[in-house]
Amino acid sequence: MTSDVLIIGGGVISMAIAIELKLRGAKVTVVSRDIQAAATHAAAGMLAPGAERISDQAMQELCTRSLYLYPDWTRKLEEFTSINTGYWSCGILAPVYQDQTRGQGEKAAKQEKSDRGRETSLPDSSSPAYWLEKEAIHQYQPGLGEEVLGGWWYPEDAQVDNRALAQALLAAAKSLGVELKEGIVVEGIQQQQRQVVGVQTSTGVLHAQHYVLAAGAWSNSLFPLPVRPVKGQMLSVKVPEFVPDLPLTRVLYGEKIYIVPRRDRRIIIGATVEDVGLTPHNTPVGIQTLLQRAIRLFPQIQNYPIQELWWGFRPATPDELPILGTSPCENLTIATGHYRNGILLAPITARLLADLILEQKTDPLLCDFHYSRFHTKSSTTPMVTYPTLKTQNSELTTENFDKSQLRNSELSTLEDSPLQIAGKTFQSRLMTGTGKYRSIEDMQQSVTASGCQIVTVAVRRVQTNAPGHEGLAEALDWTKIWMLPNTAGCQTAEEAIRVARLGREMAKLLGQEDNNFVKLEVIPDPKYLLPDPIGTLQAAEQLVKEGFAVLPYINADPMLARHLEEAGCATVMPLASPIGSGQGLKTTANIQIIIENAKVPVVVDAGIGAPSEAAQAMEMGADALLINSAIALAQNSPAMAHAMNLATVAGRLAYLAGRMPLKSYAIASSPLTGTITS
Ligand code: GLY
Repeated sequence: MTSDVLIIGGGVISMAIAIELKLRGAKVTVVSRDIQAAATHAAAGMLAPGAERISDQAMQELCTRSLYLYPDWTRKLEEFTSINTGYWSCGILAPVYQDQTRGQGEKAAKQEKSDRGRETSLPDSSSPAYWLEKEAIHQYQPGLGEEVLGGWWYPEDAQVDNRALAQALLAAAKSLGVELKEGIVVEGIQQQQRQVVGVQTSTGVLHAQHYVLAAGAWSNSLFPLPVRPVKGQMLSVKVPEFVPDLPLTRVLYGEKIYIVPRRDRRIIIGATVEDVGLTPHNTPVGIQTLLQRAIRLFPQIQNYPIQELWWGFRPATPDELPILGTSPCENLTIATGHYRNGILLAPITARLLADLILEQKTDPLLCDFHYSRFHTKSSTTPMVTYPTLKTQNSELTTENFDKSQLRNSELSTLEDSPLQIAGKTFQSRLMTGTGKYRSIEDMQQSVTASGCQIVTVAVRRVQTNAPGHEGLAEALDWTKIWMLPNTAGCQTAEEAIRVARLGREMAKLLGQEDNNFVKLEVIPDPKYLLPDPIGTLQAAEQLVKEGFAVLPYINADPMLARHLEEAGCATVMPLASPIGSGQGLKTTANIQIIIENAKVPVVVDAGIGAPSEAAQAMEMGADALLINSAIALAQNSPAMAHAMNLATVAGRLAYLAGRMPLKSYAIASSPLTGTITS
């Protein structure tokens, strides 16, 4: 029997959601590779909306709401499991040094001048914060380093023993009847037409009605989201038995260091912030840095015995805010990217997402955390926003398009949806390539003049530094151009799969963390460069399982197109005629059938030699075109790129406008009624 909801991930977010859903009556399965590897296990357990100095207003609200849920949430868990979660409303003290110029420190200094001798509350922070002067802070917290000049007191910040919390969540989930599948590797999320149809795991495919991706720092390997691991190293010491009372009963949060005392005499010291991918292990320099900072802040710990060293990976997003809510797939919910605040945000994440999944209730706060904030414009756009009609070599962007250039005002009512591929939105329907240009400059100017937003790059040629492929990273602005890695040069499915994986790494190096696209080419035939349908289907099936958005290059075979679509490909890319031949549309009848039947975008690829052919393919209803040789080998490449841009737009407009019916005899343009006859 399949579950109602299958959750991928073994951390606090996954478990909290699972329990919330189960309590509301859903049948829930959790799949996790290794619960101990989750950031939950590595964390320090600070609940610190104040001390983390969160500036984003929506995030402040999310954190504060979650903090307020904590006492009740942990109490219920404790009652249910008899496991003490170590929730402790201990407050956090954030000392500052003389040589520091922290934003809040400055604000404090100013406020303190006008309000000398009294504690001051900051009106603009939703977490109350009080400034303590030097004398006050040393009195309040004996044992601070001599250099501490003052500090902030966040009385509402708290802590939980994150490992005890994880145990309690696990025990609660088990006794509530959540099905836990541990030690299972999720290899890919299988998608078809904006639906998740299964989750490929090391022990087979799992199915559910709804899926939740809560895989933290590993999310990006399963779904194209800009989530990357940010490593944190940590250690703990223990207060020796000869020290009668706990020397610390509140968290100390200094400059790039925090010291978290537990009631059981452990003291957690953290954490480094390292952009080193998933590189494991503690390093001497990491631990040295932590120890130096911790001893400076609270010197007596220098003699405490070290208990444990460890590390973990925070799931970070470009704006450091989580990704919560719906996804490009209708039955997939995202709960990841909690970065430094996963423990804190667990209860609110569980509550809001359970409301969303089971009751389709969208809390207004969720809008600020939607994945689409990282994408370009995604709504239906009027036709007039096409990036075209500028002169050669000029900036061709949606923003600078001059609507007045469309003289016929009727056109402004003709609306078109932008091209959508695997949940990503593109305004331009023309894709280009980087091969065969005379020079890098020619290529750069042509890409600009084409107005394209997708450029395909041969991974193998980049790997081997083939002519024209050196310096590609710098040649184009990859913040504006989406890279479509292709597997050109691969003769077998195995090779293509390997090169696709390299392509994903290449995209990451260009800063496109969420790019899982691959243009799949499996071409054993060197003369006509015709793709191998069987190898292509095999490779596509595997790559879809691995979470790629697969854009397969195929002969214009409608049955193959259907099989690829059923396998979960993001588009199909039938050829017009052999690659680089410039022979134009030789497969019109078959492309027409593919267009009629496909529910994924149809991209006509290869063989288009002239703008008239580009326009014709678009008039037929192709969703997009990929044109390389016809531009690169034209006598004036940028001018041809511009012409192709215009032709693509013209063809699309013509398709939307609906051409006149063909007649086999002439019909006069002027009506005959009212003419004078003799
Ligand atoms: N929450 C603290 C950290 O991520 O290091």
